[in-house]
Amino acid sequence: MSVKSVIIGTGSALPKERVSNEQLASRIETSDEWIRGRTGITARYLAGEGETTSTLGTDAARAAIAAAGIDASKIGLIILATATPDQTFPASATKVQAALGINDCVAFDVAAVCSGFLYAITVADAMLKTGAAEYALVIGAETFSRILDWEDRTTCVLFGDGAGAVVLHADPNAGDRGILASKLHADGRHNELLYVDGGPSTGDQVGKLRMKGQEVFRHAVTNLASVLQEVLDMAGVAASDLDWVVPHQANRRILDATARKFGLPPEKVVITVDEHANTSAASVPLALDVAVRDGRIKRGDLVMLEAMGGGFTWGACLLRY
Ligand code: UT7
Repeated sequence: MSVKSVIIGTGSALPKERVSNEQLASRIETSDEWIRGRTGITARYLAGEGETTSTLGTDAARAAIAAAGIDASKIGLIILATATPDQTFPASATKVQAALGINDCVAFDVAAVCSGFLYAITVADAMLKTGAAEYALVIGAETFSRILDWEDRTTCVLFGDGAGAVVLHADPNAGDRGILASKLHADGRHNELLYVDGGPSTGDQVGKLRMKGQEVFRHAVTNLASVLQEVLDMAGVAASDLDWVVPHQANRRILDATARKFGLPPEKVVITVDEHANTSAASVPLALDVAVRDGRIKRGDLVMLEAMGGGFTWGACLLRY
């Protein structure tokens, strides 16, 4: 029987401080009406002193490991997706590893911005199938508030901080459960539409996020629809077979447009962008954990994860939970 990667636990973590649109509007020239109307966002969580990508990632990982009911020492692989690592190096995955007290395993970061979790879970799935480990921890964690230009109202209102994690088990007796199909893409020609204007090899600044929102929006709707169809075709299932779609939470209007395109009723789409805003690589595992913990996503459900972000990078992953 072939090995499949099965999610056996999910977890998430948010910073302590919740900032509503009204609170933001008291600091910069914006309004709750504009943010809510254009994006569906009503609030976001922002990291405070002592809260970093690795501390949020560690908290999410602890919750996922507890939900999985395994000892942390069983984890043989940690992949952390982030565009906002604690340090340029080492990988934040190794900081999570140390915080969890796992003394020897494979640990590295993946940089695919908002698609990071899709990249990370797809790589983890492939590695588990080669026998690299029996249990993998896959984390999406970000502190985008630290790379936002708080003078640029067109971007700073859109993002938030947080982390989500899953434990994957390489299960030889998974039956019909586990990751069924996934597909990743990148098109490096679109760097100037969504990027950070700094970095270790181009200057001495960490840099700030820059985005041409309208153009990113158009690419997102097209690319997400095409990769979703690709993965449905790979698995030989129809959109109507899906129990849940857990999309990257960038903008409520993108989520609604994608759902409409596939004839999916809105109640099958997990939405957290209203409360979390766009948390980049953290958004898919955060939304997944919310829907697992509130009882919407149940064992045996057919679930599609999807995301699109800077690079551009995009991808989708179909699994039976
Ligand atoms: O996670 C990675 C992927 N990222 C995305 O998917 C983001 C994709 N893009 C979007 O979600 C949307 O394009 C935005 C939410 C960023 C912008 O929505 P939009 O409907 O494309 O608005 P816009 O950029 O066309 O801006 C319209 C107006 C402008 O004013 P004028 O020139 O029409 O007078 C802006 O100056 O809204 C103004 N504006 C604001 N007003 C109040 C821009 N930002 C704000 C703001 N508050 N925060």
